Amino acid sequence: MQVLHQIPRLYDPNVIIGYETSDDAAVYKLTDDLAVVQTVDYFTPIVDDPYTFGCISAANALSDIYAMGAKPIMGLNIAGFPVDKLPLDVLVQILQGGSDKAKEAGITIAGGHTIDDNEPKYGMVVTGLVHPEKIITNSDAKPGDVLILTKPIGTGIITTAMKEDIAPIESAEMAIKVMSALNKSSAEAMIKVGVNACTDVTGFGLLGHLYEMVSGSSVGAEISLEKVPIIDGTWKLADDLIIPAGTMRNHEYLVEHIIWDDISYEHQMILCDAQTSGGLLISVPEEKSGELVRLLQESNALASAIIGRITENNVGIIKVKKLIG
Ligand code: CO
Ligand code: CO
Ligand code: CO
Repeated sequence: MQVLHQIPRLYDPNVIIGYETSDDAAVYKLTDDLAVVQTVDYFTPIVDDPYTFGCISAANALSDIYAMGAKPIMGLNIAGFPVDKLPLDVLVQILQGGSDKAKEAGITIAGGHTIDDNEPKYGMVVTGLVHPEKIITNSDAKPGDVLILTKPIGTGIITTAMKEDIAPIESAEMAIKVMSALNKSSAEAMIKVGVNACTDVTGFGLLGHLYEMVSGSSVGAEISLEKVPIIDGTWKLADDLIIPAGTMRNHEYLVEHIIWDDISYEHQMILCDAQTSGGLLISVPEEKSGELVRLLQESNALASAIIGRITENNVGIIKVKKLIG
């Protein structure tokens, strides 16, 4: 929600990225060579298994640091837990999942805070570091850039089906694999190649986050449905109208900003599907795109798909075609 825009903020010239451009994390410049990047994310359980929930939530929180081209250095846990309703071991498993994911990212969890709450909630504050001139924002995409996505989409629809026990087992397993995966090596690949813009795909869905990128960058975009990696089984669930409320809100919000070229309702929903811990959406100069795809494949990214390109015309508009050349 964008409520923060309604509250006046104290101006600080060292806050070089705040919330104005809807970027992934805030950035505070300490010196000419060093900036701190900070983000916080937490949510209610998205899967039944507490350990897996902890892994996913930590991967999701870390993702905003990776999307900025920064290196995470430390995390703090934030948790809510119904102490009188659930055995404390459930909380231990959630925190263990978060801790193992942080370890995989190479950072320590240095502390945190838990409160008594009606429903479990878990997430992390993550701090990272970056050179102030090497920050990768979501608002510097350039006409001619190629758009690359590093994970398949569909986790919102599939986790909604999982809650109703109607998700095919392979789809559920793939969604968990996708949500638990760190964006670490994909971020390292994009830093190595040098890209113009990046964001991670989360609650606003692929098209919602792409819209933030094109409007922030004053460009347009064209994407090809057939090039977008989608988790197997997602379309069938969308066809059965298993669509999360957040996904429908995204679709409604984006109505004026998208030109749908003969795209079915189900596919429109999938492209707007609210993701948890999704991949990086990267805007890279065309001449570097082959190298980025190669590095992503080498690092076993879950996807390395060229899904479209940035255009000079149609500023703030995304054209979705079945296939573009
Ligand atoms: Co983000
Ligand atoms: Co976030
Ligand atoms: Co405290």
